[in-house]
Amino acid sequence: MWKVELFAPNYDERESQAVNEVLDSRWLTMGEKTKTFESNFSEMLGENVKCTALSSATAALHISLMALDIGEGDEVIIPALTFVADINVVRIVGATPVLADCSSYSDWNVSAETIERQISEKTKAVIIVHFAGYPCQMDEIVELCNDRGIALIEDVAHAPGATYKGQKCGTFGDYGCFSFFTNKNLSVGEGGMLSSKSEKLDQQGKYFRSHGMTALTLDRHKGRAITYDIAQSGLNYRIDEIRSSLGLVQLDKLSLANKSRKVLVERYILNLKDVKGITIPFLELKNIESVYHIFPLLLSESIDRVDLIGKLKVEGIQSSIHYPAFKDFTAFKDIGLNSASIAEDIAMRELTLPLYPTMGLEQVDFVCNGLKKSLGN
Ligand SMILES: Cc1ncc(COP(=O)(O)O)c(C=O)c1O
Repeated sequence: MWKVELFAPNYDERESQAVNEVLDSRWLTMGEKTKTFESNFSEMLGENVKCTALSSATAALHISLMALDIGEGDEVIIPALTFVADINVVRIVGATPVLADCSSYSDWNVSAETIERQISEKTKAVIIVHFAGYPCQMDEIVELCNDRGIALIEDVAHAPGATYKGQKCGTFGDYGCFSFFTNKNLSVGEGGMLSSKSEKLDQQGKYFRSHGMTALTLDRHKGRAITYDIAQSGLNYRIDEIRSSLGLVQLDKLSLANKSRKVLVERYILNLKDVKGITIPFLELKNIESVYHIFPLLLSESIDRVDLIGKLKVEGIQSSIHYPAFKDFTAFKDIGLNSASIAEDIAMRELTLPLYPTMGLEQVDFVCNGLKKSLGN
């Protein structure tokens, strides 16, 4: 049905081989593959960061809030323009979500300024998102959180490998939360990683991952432990060896894949920068290296987005929306969310075009021509 899909996994025989190796080994969960995935991911992040592989980024976000002891009576500032996982985890632990607006129409990330506007005596943590793979301006955000004694959680679902002033995203806050969901830069189907520079927070993350147990099945299998203690209550947010083995291959491919994304986005920008009716965000950011998770556009107010998506479909081009505003979801209509005017406006007019590392430049040209035709250009 689609001539160009929104996303296609960057998979080849290496992934098949990795999965088969695990199946042949007969060790299916939380084993050596997972340990190696964690240590290779730590190495990629640098900065002496410790990593805990998990079942999803949502698990990582949930663990972060639980480990930082955030709950009823606390406020957590989150971006107004983000995926629903960020608001859901805050509500699930019983805290109150407060929305920080986008910095501007050209920088859709939150900033120290848009966060500071929402701080109250109840603010206990901030969750930031490096939207579309473009890092937030971290110096000011870290300084603000340190000055106010507020915990900082980075949602790095869009940005594995991205840097701010040469430092990897996911190493600035108390915790970094990565997603390895199918459409992410590092894709294993379902999976996530929790990063932290603090030994204590890292240990707590590991306890929350696996029932608070002090020793794992592998430790007992290897003869390193006979039994275990329960240090605290925890959940089962573990990853299995099949997905860790996919993660190892995908991590190996990540840097090259992110470079391919950059070339494709440069082609998009070249083709679309002068097209009437659309603007391209994130063109003027300083001190950052993006990993180009998605290619978002802002449509002018006169364009009917639903009609445009339909016209692109006729051309065989899949497109998407990142993200609908929280206030428009049934679950959040009556919870007293504050408004965030830029984010709410962007949510009404955003359009995401196809982007994935194995996409060809001719496919980018095809999408751009289809878009221009659909816009009547
Ligand atoms: C910004 C953001 N945060 C969190 C998540 C949740 O990730 P996961 O599906 O791994 O739980 C996603 C996934 O789409 C996301 O885009």
